[in-house]
Parts: sequence; C-alpha cells; structure tokens
Amino acid sequence: MAYQDLREFLASMEGDILHIATEFDPKFEMAALLHETQSDGRVVLFDNVKGHPGVKVMGNLLSSRARIARALGTTDKKLNETYLNCKKHALEPVICAGPAPVKEVIHRAPADVSALLPILTYHEKDAAPFITCGLVMAKDPETGRRAMGIHRMMFKGGNRFGIFLANPPLSSYFQQAEEEGRALEIAVALGVDPATLLAAVVKVGSTGPDKLEVAGGLRGLPLELTPAETVDIDVLARAEIIIEGHVLPGVREQEGPFGESTGYYFSNVSPVVEVTAITHRKDFIYAALCPWTVDVDNLLSLASGTELLGQLQNQIHGVVDLELITGTCGFAAVIAVKDCQPTDVRRLIQLVLSLDLRLKIVTVVDAGVDIRNPREVSWALATRYQPDRDTVLLDKMAGYVIDPSAVESGTGSKIGFDATRGPGEQFDAVSIPAAAQAKAKSVLADSF
Ligand SMILES: Cc1cc2nc3c(=O)[nH]c(=O)nc-3n(C[C@H](O)[C@H](O)[C@H](O)COP(=O)(O)O)c2cc1C
Repeated sequence: MAYQDLREFLASMEGDILHIATEFDPKFEMAALLHETQSDGRVVLFDNVKGHPGVKVMGNLLSSRARIARALGTTDKKLNETYLNCKKHALEPVICAGPAPVKEVIHRAPADVSALLPILTYHEKDAAPFITCGLVMAKDPETGRRAMGIHRMMFKGGNRFGIFLANPPLSSYFQQAEEEGRALEIAVALGVDPATLLAAVVKVGSTGPDKLEVAGGLRGLPLELTPAETVDIDVLARAEIIIEGHVLPGVREQEGPFGESTGYYFSNVSPVVEVTAITHRKDFIYAALCPWTVDVDNLLSLASGTELLGQLQNQIHGVVDLELITGTCGFAAVIAVKDCQPTDVRRLIQLVLSLDLRLKIVTVVDAGVDIRNPREVSWALATRYQPDRDTVLLDKMAGYVIDPSAVESGTGSKIGFDATRGPGEQFDAVSIPAAAQAKAKSVLADSF
C-alpha cells in the first residue's frame, strides 16, 4: 500500500505507536524519552506538549527497519533490493488537486516562530532549540533544478534561524545566489511520510531524477505540490508544516554547539535564515529526529549503504554485502566478499574509502561471516587478519567535516582491514553435526 502522507502512514500502524499522555517539555524531556525508547521499536507520539496545546510531537519514526520496509511496501529482507528498484522508477510530482492540507493555517511574517512550533532542545550543551527533521527545499538559481536535503537549523529567536549548509547542492545553490548578491529562497517541510524522508538523503546527481521524483518512486505515489506563499517554490502539499524563508547573502553567525549524529557537540559559523511565512495543518504533528540514534543509522544505512554496495558491485567482482556499523554515523563499515583475491580486496578497500567521504574504517570479511553480528566480525578480525600483511592505510584523504577527530577542513586518514582468509590458509572453523543441531533446536522449541 502507498501512503500519501505521514498521518495516513501513522493511522495504518496505530498498534505500533507509543502514546505519551503525560505533559512533556520540548526542552530536553522529549529527547530523553526518545532515547530511552530507541530499542522499543515503536513510534512515539507526545499528545500533551508543554506550551503548545492541541499540537503533537512525533519521534522514532525510522527506529525499525521493518517499519521502513512497510513504508516502501516490502519486507525487511527485501528492503535494499526494493529501494534500488523503486529508485529506478522515479515519478514526477503532481500539483495538489484540492486545497493543500498544509495551507489550513497561514502565518505571514511570523514574529516568533517558537510560539507556533515546539522546537526541541535535544542535548544539555546545545546552544538553542534545533530543527533536525526539516527537508530543506530550494531551486538551482540558474537551471531551476529542485533540491531537497536535511539541514539542521538553530532557532535564534523571533523569525531567525542558523542553517548548516555543508553539503551540495544546497550549499552550492546558496554560494551561487550569494555571489550574485541575492538571498536564496528556501522552504522547509516538516512531518512527511517515511519514504519521502528517505528520499531527502538519497544521493542524486546534477542530472536525472531529482529527489522529489525519487520520493515518488519510493512511495509508489507521486508527491503532491502546491505553490508556497512567499517564495517561488512548489512545496509538499501534504506535509504537516512548511517554513518559508530566505538565506541571507553575506551573513554568517555562530551556529551551535549542537549534539550531532557523531555523538559529539559540533559548532560552525553558518548562514542565517529569515522566515517569511509558516503554514501548517490545523492539528499538526511536529517531527523530531534525535541525532545520535538508530533512526539516523537506518536513514544512512539505506540511502548511503545500499548505494555504495551497488557501486562496488559494479566495479569489483565478488562483493556480496555491506553494512554501515550502527552508532558510527556512517564512518565505519563491514563488507563481505566471496572468491576475492587479496589484491582485489586491497583495491576494494581503496575504492570504497575514496568513494564515500564519510567512510573512514572498513573491514572486509569472507561471505560466511555474518556482517550484522559484531561477535562474528570481531572473530574474523582477530583470527584472519595479520596487521603487517592485511592493513591498508590512506592518509591526507578528504574526510567529513563533522568528524571530531578530522584535522582542519575535514582532511584525515582512513584505514582498511582485510580480515578474509588468505590464499592457502587452511584453518577449519568449528562446527557441530547438523543432526545434533536439529535435535537441540527441536527439543528447545518443544520446551517453551
Ligand atoms: C540525519 C541527517 C542530518 C543531516 N544534516 C545535515 C546538515 O545539517 N547540513 C548538511 O549540509 N547536510 C546534512 N545532512 C546531509 C544532507 O541531507 C545530504 O548531504 C544530502 O541530502 C545528500 O544528498 P545530496 O548531497 O546528493 O543532495 C544530513 C543527513 C542526515 C541523514
């Protein structure tokens, strides 16, 4: 089934939602509960939001792969394959036929955004409340090509936000507008269905389908758009909230500290947004995304991990699977290979570490090792890897700007471990006869 918006998706999974009726404060308290419930696997809905009667806050939307699979109309096992397939069948958005739900309430030139939206403060040393789950939309000032990415936004009081624009294309659209002395118009969508959220972090090039079209492919249903009120952008008609505004040319201010997806605080000197309008549904749901959580692991694993695996398989024979290691913000990965020569494993390590800017540590294991089981990966590393023979070290590589250990301008070193069996290595992994295992399993199954 295809879901046209967030509330339709939530309605389809009522039993899988943890409702919190107790009043919770968007400052720290909600983040604390969202962290506590990460392993619970359910979506959390705060029904009683301090200072914002009638508003709901939702979190942990992507905390389960099974739920993401459902959003794409598939199962956990087939998620990667379905994702790649849906991405190939991009669908052009359509203009919303009736009145756009996100325009039920319109505030032009809002004086105080925090009076309207319950923006969460996540961590003890965060400089201010931050929007973390906003899909920032903009158009290439020259070609008109649409972009949509997640970019954190720090609330600075009144109608002002700081915006972290590290990644293209939004960073380059802004640079271009600024060089011409113009502001960059943006619109930020909050509260979208999970497939649209995923599409926002998918890598798309500067040609071919854009992220809105990819979102249509992942949803199996085109996005519905409607013209914004104060900027020249067609926005998501079925989002819960749209924030419209201008990124100001020539203005930079302190932004952060903010507890990032790395699990550390990070500050920057960033551009500033002035909000020109906010539109929302009457009883809107505000979407929260805790930065250092399984939600972010799942976002990265599907959008980056699956893409990377596809690219590697196109170039090196024998690459079977890839997993970004949970909690590492996509900085560490394990790759499984079959029938790969040591020289090919070295080539693979060099390739993957240069293809993915974030990736810093990669371990390659034989296909029989379960790459999603840390015990098995550590076992392979401890028993099949010889440091002097099996290490690939690359220095002065372009790294990732939010890596706290990277030296200036995101430059750093990278390492790969070949934990596959070398040619001729004969050591036998222990095993128990299949019949004995079957008996043990059947007796245990009967006794519970
Ligand atoms: C949870 C999360 C938060 C992100 N926050 C930012 C951010 O604050 N600033 C930024 O420039 N990129 C951020 N990104 C990355 C961009 O959204 C990402 O580069 C982009 O959408 C990927 O596609 P593109 O670069 O091809 O457009 C974030 C990604 C994720 C998954």
